Amino acid sequence: MGKNAIVGQSGGPTAVINSSLAGVYESCLACGAEKVYGMRFGVEGLLKKKYVDLATVLPTDVEVELLKRTPSSFLGSCRYKLPDWQTEPQVYEQLFEILKELDIGWFFYIGGNDSMDTICKLAAYGASVNSDIRFMGVPKTIDNDLMGTDHTPGYGSAAKYISSVLKEVIRDSLVYDIKSITIVEIMGRNAGWLTAAAALAASDDCEGADLIYLPEVAFDVDAFVEKVRTLQETKPSIVIAVSEGVKLADGRYVCELTSDDRAVDVFGHKMLTGTGRVLADLLSSRLGTKARAIELSTLQRCASHIASGTDIAEAYQAGGAAVHAAAEGHTGEVVALKRISDKPYQCVTDLLPIEQVANLEKKVPLEWIIEDGTQLSSAFIDYARPLIQTELPPMYVSGAPRHIHL
Ligand code: F6P
Repeated sequence: MGKNAIVGQSGGPTAVINSSLAGVYESCLACGAEKVYGMRFGVEGLLKKKYVDLATVLPTDVEVELLKRTPSSFLGSCRYKLPDWQTEPQVYEQLFEILKELDIGWFFYIGGNDSMDTICKLAAYGASVNSDIRFMGVPKTIDNDLMGTDHTPGYGSAAKYISSVLKEVIRDSLVYDIKSITIVEIMGRNAGWLTAAAALAASDDCEGADLIYLPEVAFDVDAFVEKVRTLQETKPSIVIAVSEGVKLADGRYVCELTSDDRAVDVFGHKMLTGTGRVLADLLSSRLGTKARAIELSTLQRCASHIASGTDIAEAYQAGGAAVHAAAEGHTGEVVALKRISDKPYQCVTDLLPIEQVANLEKKVPLEWIIEDGTQLSSAFIDYARPLIQTELPPMYVSGAPRHIHL
């Protein structure tokens, strides 16, 4: 069996994906790997022989600690779909040749549901050619839409950012005694977990978002305008959280109402943006009210200045658990987080067969979406609140967060 390990990061970045990388790296060394390589830009980069020996870029504990507090994907990422290994084995032959050259025994991929498709295919191809390389997935996505896991590393930090900025936006929106509408557009293509995190803004010092729209519920434009009009009769300033992925009953995204010319990635996902703008313009013209759109966009993915300490710790544990599983002989599996207690919140790592996770999406349960699809229930709050607990601030140098990069 190969003496070395290789790790890659894939899909959209998060504030804590590097903490998982740190967990993989340190656990590989502790479990006896001679060298740990990092793929540059995921498998797509590996196919071009782009990789780095992590010992050269993370020489001491200080770099590893900095890595844990640095957002985005240190190694670079890709959105790359491997072809079917039975009909197009050439790519696999090429990849396995590179893995042989590097004397790889363990292969780790940190990513979301599309990235787990890569582990699924590599493990299946590996089994078909009697490879002894162990392939393990480490969960990651701000979208929180992986099946089988209580939640995903990356979600807690994005949720903490979203709920915190929502509180600030709400304070700002109340400054003038006039009618105004602020729409905050939040990521999450098909699952509303991130947008639901807007509900965490409500507390004894904040009334919370007035309306919250998730992609799980079909969006009705006329009902929306009417709802806002009625609300504004008693409350002049309205703050609305809306998912980038809200769709009309006919399946069109709301952001396609003004233009359906959308770029599509290799997984067939349309690039979503502008939902907040479309709705703000609509309200402004139909209600004659001042309406502003704020698109959180990439700000919510890499906000390590307000990362959840719980999230950073769990991301690190997930990385470590994947390595320990590989060392015990597991392959073709992904680490999951299993909540074993609510009060106090306690979570442990678990393992799932990769087929139970790859390419599937977990949505917000419909029973958690209440008030005509415009608010979240206390069950959601109880689920999400523990995930945003505690802080691990960046290392500040000259007043700005210090990051490590290649
Ligand atoms: O990683 C998930 C995600 O953040 C989605 O919420 C969002 O729709 C998508 O990535 C955007 O992807 P990209 O950065 O490739 O445009």
